[in-house]
This record gives sequence, structure tokens and C-alpha cells, in this order.
Amino acid sequence: MNRHVLEKGHSAYPRGSAFSNSPNRFQPRSQPALRRRRQLFQRLCLLGGVSLVLFLLIFPSWRAAVLPSISLGLLSYPGDLHLQTVRYYDLSEVQGTEKGWERGERVLMCTPLRDASSHLPMFFSHLRNLTYPHHLIDLAFLVSDSRDDTLGMLSRMLEDIQNDSDPKMPYGEISVIQKDFGQKVQQDVESRHGFEAQASRRKLMAQARNWLLSATLRPTHSWVYWRDADVETAPFTIIEDLMRHNKDVTVPNVWRPLPDWLGGEQPYDLNSWQESETALALADSLDEDAVIVEGYAEYATWRPHLAYLRDPYGDPDMEMELDGIGGVSILAKARVFRAGVHFPAFSFEKHAETEGFGKMAKRMKFSVIGLPHYTIWHLYEPSVDDLRHMEEMEVERLVREKEEERAEQNDNTQSNSPGDDQDVDGEEVQGSAEGPAGQPMKDAMDSTQGHLKAQAERVDQAEKAKS
Ligand SMILES: *[C@@H]1O[C@H](CO)[C@@H](O)[C@H](O)[C@H]1NC(C)=O
Ligand SMILES: *[C@@H]1O[C@H](CO)[C@@H](O)[C@H](O)[C@H]1NC(C)=O
Repeated sequence: MNRHVLEKGHSAYPRGSAFSNSPNRFQPRSQPALRRRRQLFQRLCLLGGVSLVLFLLIFPSWRAAVLPSISLGLLSYPGDLHLQTVRYYDLSEVQGTEKGWERGERVLMCTPLRDASSHLPMFFSHLRNLTYPHHLIDLAFLVSDSRDDTLGMLSRMLEDIQNDSDPKMPYGEISVIQKDFGQKVQQDVESRHGFEAQASRRKLMAQARNWLLSATLRPTHSWVYWRDADVETAPFTIIEDLMRHNKDVTVPNVWRPLPDWLGGEQPYDLNSWQESETALALADSLDEDAVIVEGYAEYATWRPHLAYLRDPYGDPDMEMELDGIGGVSILAKARVFRAGVHFPAFSFEKHAETEGFGKMAKRMKFSVIGLPHYTIWHLYEPSVDDLRHMEEMEVERLVREKEEERAEQNDNTQSNSPGDDQDVDGEEVQGSAEGPAGQPMKDAMDSTQGHLKAQAERVDQAEKAKS
């Protein structure tokens, strides 16, 4: 760069002029009149120069306006040019500390999106509620393999939030990256979570995450926060809460609410775990390219899972060392990525994507922890079986109501006693509004009931198309 600038400087300088022979040099001396006129001209120039200097001294505002344009021609030297194109960063300033919000530490928030338009309103509601100073958070989205209007909707909602009248609302720099990775797996819940599809799905997800991060991580970032769009309930202070632990990689516990007939709630993210002897033995027995995915009967690893260790009344600050982690919500110091840890899109110690990321970070001596009693709630999306079951229940309920109506009409002449069934229904609704998972679940149920038929029909069509 320097060399380039110097060359430019040299070529601009009239190098040969000092030695050039001018033919005028040997002409006869000028006339006295001519000489006097030249002296007058020189004096006028001197006077003009002095009065300009005085003028600039008296009016400072003029000085600011005039001096740069003068100095551009007279004072600039090649060294100035390289300051415009070379930037210096001191990365010791952005290591990440436990109170980043007080030290103005920047966070890069990464969210991969795929056919996510139905989740975006909820996601932006979360964004608006985050308490970490918004101007310190840069947003990065990757929109891939989407058939719905994820991109258009995202643009509109970003415009809204950046144009909000509340000065605390707009975020820092925002990047939206569009790239398809050829995810061909059906997007319905069943096939997305089916065992067969897992390894290749996870490898593609890993590529997507690496793309997103490498395209958007800047030298100014101290932290990277990965957050999925389909989180339903999470504390507004989650970034600060995770940051306070001052570990290299930190994840919360992730559960999901369920309808009452399925137990009310359930551990969701089984990718956060500690290594076990059984799993290591299993890994040794597998092919080099095999990828173990947690939470499937096919691979019985007997690992301690973060999700199963939850105690609703436990200390939310309790830490647990982890080897594999899930990707729903990860806070990591940016230096972990700068050191080369990434989401393997191949089998790394028989794991890929976020589980491989956890293992790789561990391997490079970074700290990786989970918080068993600090829980966020993933959206409940009913499986095909759940939808069928709910449909059956709905039909049963309608039949029961009809019967009750008929019974009531019969009872009109006799004494009236309320049906037991109806009371049970009432209790169910009340019960579902209680507990930490109550409210989100009730909302999920309400919207689920509404879309029940449509979804079931779509699933049927998808299955017909498959066969
Ligand atoms: C955000 O905060 C508002 C007001 O407190 C609340 O109504 C809304 O549900 C919150 N959004 C989410 C996603 O938690
Ligand atoms: C931003 O908001 C102002 C008024 O608050 C409005 O006039 C303007 O059109 C908005 N810009 C965009 C891009 O939405």
C-alpha cells in the first residue's frame, strides 16, 4: 500500500524540471519598465497574502472553511493517504467481560432463517424487549431455502424497528444475507426431526452458520449471540444474564410447552450434554464420517443432558460443564470464533454443527457451560401424530357437546344437573394457564385449534406427494 502511494507521489512531482534547459534563459535582459511592473505585481501579491492571513485570524469560522481546501493542495503528503485506507484495531479492547453493557461491548446477534415468516412477529417482539443496549447490538440474518416471504417480511420489520420513534429501539449495523444451501428435507415437523434426515440436515445447518458468521463478524465485536427465531418465551435480560457468567460459551436450558394431554411441558434441546463413557465407546465403534445425533433411540449414549437436570426452583445461576451444545440460544465470546472454532459441516469427533462446535471449543481449551435452571421456552409445533390426536379430541368434544345439548333439552322438563365432562373441560383450560409454561402453551393451543384442519390437510397432501 505504502509503495503504491509513494509511486503515485513521485509521478506527480515534476522530476526532470530542475535540469531542463529552457530556451528563454539566454534571452536579453528585460526593460526597466517591465522590471518595475513586475515589482509592483510582487508587492500586490504580498499585500494580498498578508491581508488573507489577518482575515483568517480574525474570523475563525472562515478558517475552518478555507484552510482544508488550501492545505489539500499545499500541506498534504503521501502519508495522509494511507490513513484513509488502512484501519487499525486493538483486539485486546474487545475480549469480552462480564459487564459488557457497561463497557460498551458490541454483540453480533446471528439468526438463521428458513421459511420463518410465521415466526418473525414473535421474534421482533423479543428484539424490541431485549434490555442489552440496542445500539451495541449488530443484527445478522441468513435467509436460505425459503419458499415463503421471509425476506420481504424481514425487510419490512427491520425498517420499522430502525425507524422507531423511541431512540433506544434501533439496532446497530444490520446485515441480511441470502444464500440457499439446498435443504431438500420436507419442512414439516415430522421429517425435520426424523432420525434419517438428521446428519445431512445438521451439516447443511453448520455451513449456513459458518457463512453467516464469517460474512458479518467485525473486529469491533466482543460477543456473538446465536438466537433462533422460534423461541417463544425468554427473559428480556438474557444477553446480560448469560454474559454475567463470563465464560467463553454459555447456553441456557431449552424446554417447550406441551398441551396438557401430552404432559404440559417437555425438555426440548437435547443437544446440550456432557460426554459419557458409553458415548465415547460408541463413537469409537462408528465409521469415520458418522455423525452421532442426540435424543434418538438409535444412538443410546446415556449422556447427562442439560435439559433433564432442570429444577424449576433451582438456582438459575448454577453452571454445568458441557461438551456438546444446542443452537437455540448461544452466547459466545467473539475470540472463540477468531481462534478458529466453528460449526463443523463434517464429522468432528463424530459430531457436527453446534454439538461439534461445543466439542471443538472444549478441545481448544475454551470454557463451555450450560445453565440447567435458567430456562427459555421453544415454540411448540404439533407433530403429525399430535395434530391427528387433537383432531380426534376436537371431534369427540363436538360429539360430547351435541349429546349434552340433547341431554339438556331432555332435562328441561326434569331437574338439571350439569354434566361432569364440561367441568373437566373447564379445569383443563384453567390448569393450562398456570405454571411457567402455562400462558405460551395456551396461546399455542388457541392458534393451533384455529389452524388444525388446514394443517392436517397440508400434512396429508405432503404425504401423498411423498409416496
Ligand atoms: C415484550 O414485552 C411486551 C410488554 O411487556 C409483552 O406484551 C410482550 O409479550 C413481550 N414479547 C415477548 C416476545 O415476550
Ligand atoms: C420513518 O418514520 C417517519 C415518521 O416517523 C416517516 O415519515 C418515514 O416515512 C419513515 N420512513 C420509513 C423508511 O419507513
